[in-house]
Amino acid sequence: MADLSSNYMGLRLQNPLVASASPLSHTLAGIRSLVEGGVGAVVMHSLFEEEVALEAERQVALAEAGSESFAESLSYFPEVPGVEAGGRRYLSVLERAATVLNVPVIASLNGTTQKGWTRFAHQMESAGAAAIELNVYSSPGPEASGREVEERHVEILGLVKSSVSVPVAVKLSPYYSSVGEVALRMEEAGADALVLFNRFLHPDIDPETLQVVPGLGLSSASEGRLARTWIALLRQRLDTSLAASTGVDGPDDLAKYLLAGADVVMTTSALLRRGPDYAQVLLDGLSDWMSRKGFTSIAKVRGLLAATPYPGQGAEERAGYVAALRAANANVAGPW
Ligand SMILES: Cc1cc2nc3c(=O)[nH]c(=O)nc-3n(C[C@H](O)[C@H](O)[C@H](O)COP(=O)(O)O)c2cc1C
Repeated sequence: MADLSSNYMGLRLQNPLVASASPLSHTLAGIRSLVEGGVGAVVMHSLFEEEVALEAERQVALAEAGSESFAESLSYFPEVPGVEAGGRRYLSVLERAATVLNVPVIASLNGTTQKGWTRFAHQMESAGAAAIELNVYSSPGPEASGREVEERHVEILGLVKSSVSVPVAVKLSPYYSSVGEVALRMEEAGADALVLFNRFLHPDIDPETLQVVPGLGLSSASEGRLARTWIALLRQRLDTSLAASTGVDGPDDLAKYLLAGADVVMTTSALLRRGPDYAQVLLDGLSDWMSRKGFTSIAKVRGLLAATPYPGQGAEERAGYVAALRAANANVAGPW
């Protein structure tokens, strides 16, 4: 039987499959079902600072109106000085999950203000988060330069690192103009792990109803290629942990990410589509594959097909890109 135990930013995991941030972790029951499904760790859904602020305003309005539901909500989530209702609910689920479940529970934070990033990160650590994942996504607006956006993301990491002692991961976007350089800068700024990649809301337009339709569709396996390529390119340049996120559909996708150099592989879409028990199907498939290939541990698989960095690699990659395009063009050459 292959040994699936894994290390993710210093956390010991029973296996390398991690449930990424999703609605499945909104409740303790949801997180428990992910753990019972077999995952080695859970990342909770993100706490959004602006939602906490909105909820705080709502609670003040309810309290002023002498509403019963205000009193009721206080009885579920007793008041903690300096923590608003939305934050209390998140921290309460986190605290209970961290206490009763035997896998690391990672909190996810998306702040808007400097104070929000540091205060919530600190509260998450106090509530028992094994680590904190920073969801640095925000819509920067057309005036912001790429460098400004990157500086802000590195600054957020610095702020959070200085306010907690648990490991801190940053969930990166695939849309930086130089993903590799951002990754190197994040490592320099103290990131304990990088998660490649976040997947964004792409609203659509319904031409019949003339409405904008909110969209966060589930991913398909082919979308994993971008993250896998970057993980393979970065593995030997970085000491920080790398987590793969996007496009895990079957056990092969796990194997491919590990071969590219991921320390852990995250999944949301597959678990939303097929249920939390699907985690065990993915892990059994990974185990079978490892046995078939003669791999006795994850350490033997990890990074086996990572790219070896050497001078002039850019030129080689370009040559590979051109060759791939030539082959693709030859394949689609038709009568047109
Ligand atoms: C319904 C839904 C909700 C999500 N919520 C969050 C979130 O709160 N924070 C976050 O960082 N990512 C969130 N994600 C992104 C996932 O964590 C993950 O990075 C993304 O779906 C790509 O992985 P996948 O291909 O396995 O789905 C969400 C994704 C979905 C589909």
